[in-house]
Amino acid sequence: MNIFRLQLRFLIPFVVTLLTAAVLAFHAFDVLTEQWFTKDMHLRSRLATTALSESVSSAFEHNQMASLSELFTRATQEERLTAIGLCNPEDDLLLTTGSYPEGLSCQLAREISHLSLPYFHAKSVVLHVSSESVKLRSGLKAHVVMLHDRAYVERRKAQATWYLIAFLLLLGVVIAAIVAVTTQMSIRALMKGIRTIVRGEEFSLEDKTHASRAFPSEIAADVRARLRELEDDYRRIHDANDTWTAEHLRSLLRTQLRGEQVIVLSNREPWVHEWENGSITTYQPASGLVTALEPVVAACAGTWIAHGCGSADREVTDTEDSIALPPQAPSYRLHRIWLSDEEVDAYYNKMSNQGLWPLSHLAHVQPEFDEKSWQTYVTVNQKFADAALAEARIPDPVILVQDYHLALVPQMIRAKLPAATIISFWHIPWPNPESFLICPWRHEILRGLLGSSILGFQTSHYRRNFIDSVDRLLETRIDHEHSKILFNGNETLIESYPASIAWPSEETSASERNAEILRLRASYGLAEECRIIVGVDRFDYTKGIPERLCAFEHLLEQSPDWIGKLVFLQVAAPSREHIQDYQSLRQRVGQQVAAINKRFGQEGRPAIILLDRFHSHAEINSLYRAADICIVSSLHDGMNLVCKEFIAARDDEQGVLLLSQFTGAARELPEALGINPYHIEGMVSALRQALNMPKSEQKERMASMRNTIREANVFRWAGRMLGDASHQRLRLRIAQRVQASHTGQ
Ligand code: G6P
Repeated sequence: MNIFRLQLRFLIPFVVTLLTAAVLAFHAFDVLTEQWFTKDMHLRSRLATTALSESVSSAFEHNQMASLSELFTRATQEERLTAIGLCNPEDDLLLTTGSYPEGLSCQLAREISHLSLPYFHAKSVVLHVSSESVKLRSGLKAHVVMLHDRAYVERRKAQATWYLIAFLLLLGVVIAAIVAVTTQMSIRALMKGIRTIVRGEEFSLEDKTHASRAFPSEIAADVRARLRELEDDYRRIHDANDTWTAEHLRSLLRTQLRGEQVIVLSNREPWVHEWENGSITTYQPASGLVTALEPVVAACAGTWIAHGCGSADREVTDTEDSIALPPQAPSYRLHRIWLSDEEVDAYYNKMSNQGLWPLSHLAHVQPEFDEKSWQTYVTVNQKFADAALAEARIPDPVILVQDYHLALVPQMIRAKLPAATIISFWHIPWPNPESFLICPWRHEILRGLLGSSILGFQTSHYRRNFIDSVDRLLETRIDHEHSKILFNGNETLIESYPASIAWPSEETSASERNAEILRLRASYGLAEECRIIVGVDRFDYTKGIPERLCAFEHLLEQSPDWIGKLVFLQVAAPSREHIQDYQSLRQRVGQQVAAINKRFGQEGRPAIILLDRFHSHAEINSLYRAADICIVSSLHDGMNLVCKEFIAARDDEQGVLLLSQFTGAARELPEALGINPYHIEGMVSALRQALNMPKSEQKERMASMRNTIREANVFRWAGRMLGDASHQRLRLRIAQRVQASHTGQ
């Protein structure tokens, strides 16, 4: 219907213009032919008069008008000439042929003859009048009046019009034929071009003249990107019809991967053991990676290899540096890797978090690289790879390598265990190729990652950035259609798999929830009517904490009614505390909070409560449940799982989510209020909109987001990767069998 209306909008003016142009053209043609044929008759009259002039002059000289009468009558036998009249020098009409009209005097004939349309309307005909002078021998001038029937002009004009129409029709047919043939040829070239682009091949020399002219390489890349995005969207919607659960994932492992061994590697360990006042405590570090990975490793009963960083970590591990986890209900094994302080500083603080982290995030912190840290990064990566090799009981285990700390591990494992299925996942953004050039060891990092069987990114944008970086820097074969890169004989599937959370198995009852909220309010001394904004982050400069506090300050400034009735609870888990940029951020936020509280806090009621310590999942869940608003204002974030946890916690379908447009999650959650952390006034408006949002609208938005995340949960994230891995393994086995049968083995 819309398309029809759209077409009418263009069609009606087009037809009106065409008709107007046609009417004007025909009118112009009419005027032109009229002039031509009028001139033609003048010419004829003049010629006829010239032919008669000798006879006229002699008749006057000898006064023999009778002979002229006969001559004139003969002349009017000619089809078009209707009548002739002869005027003497005194303008008396001396002689006329039979059909000369009454009332057309010599003087009148001469006057009409000078008009541009020299016509005389007789009784039943319209006559063209031409009065031509004839010089007599006496030196005086007689006039011959020639009258032509105008019907002749009309006939000629009609004839000419038909010729014109026939010519235009013929021209139209010829043009249409030419257009049809060239369009056909262009469409063929276009389709060939599109097919070539989709396959990700280069244009052949012959094609270059046609298709590549229509598709410069940027457009080709763009078409490919759009097609991939459509495919991603399709997969997201299509896959969402299956609800993935831990059981679903286990059965995939049992059936498709035939229960093969699963080994997971990450820098961050899922549980840290610390000495505290003479006894050992455990806590889970704040890490999106851990949130996403633990339910998956638990479901697969796999082995997790990670850096043991806790002060009591060694005390609780067995002789193989392992421990069964999670503490309450062990379901997987953690194998801890030990690193010296120097290694941690160079590999973790410097190369990973002062180099690769700011390199990958657009947060305006300059990446720093140094040779020594790089060398340590290589050594530590080798340690992780060796640990995985030592764990492998079969030649083709499934090994999941996580994040930017371990970029070299896939290639290191591949070198020793060529049949392994290595699935690497890059949890943070992948920079654009220009930014990636900054890294002095860019080639090594790409080569390391291309040891993977599958390399996953959070969004298709990061996936594309990676492929573009490889395209710029390495000699590889890129199959854009299937998103695969062939390098050094190894094929890597490059895909996007949005990470997620495990959806809670149970919902809380309304009474439990209310009691929990009351406890939380009491613990922070919040009055019953006080509304709550919550932010939950690591203390990281990519999270946009100062920006959101600034928006909060502006809100209180502009709407003082909220002072004392609105509190901001900001959880900021300590993170990477040995790095200067992190220390400065902590200091800056501390000062900012103090200043805002000084302006807007009241006795015993601060406007902002900064909770800069680790919090358990249970504590954070209470905060999510009590919040009116949860704000995620990251400057750049690969995915961000805080927003998904907030959604999962809100089984009452209330609460408003403010979500930065620069998070990977923003693409999946259009029902959230989108914010730009660089636009403070925009954030203030969003906060105001959230505070005034009716409960019915909150419910509508939250219910829809809950449906999305319930389906797009972490088991789907892992399931899709493992599913792709099992397809790959199957194809490989078939190829090996076919090859074996060819070689007769
Ligand atoms: C991000 C990274 C993870 C990391 C987490 C916490 O989410 O992608 O790999 O674990 O930050 O950082 P941390 O340095 O404390 O492990």
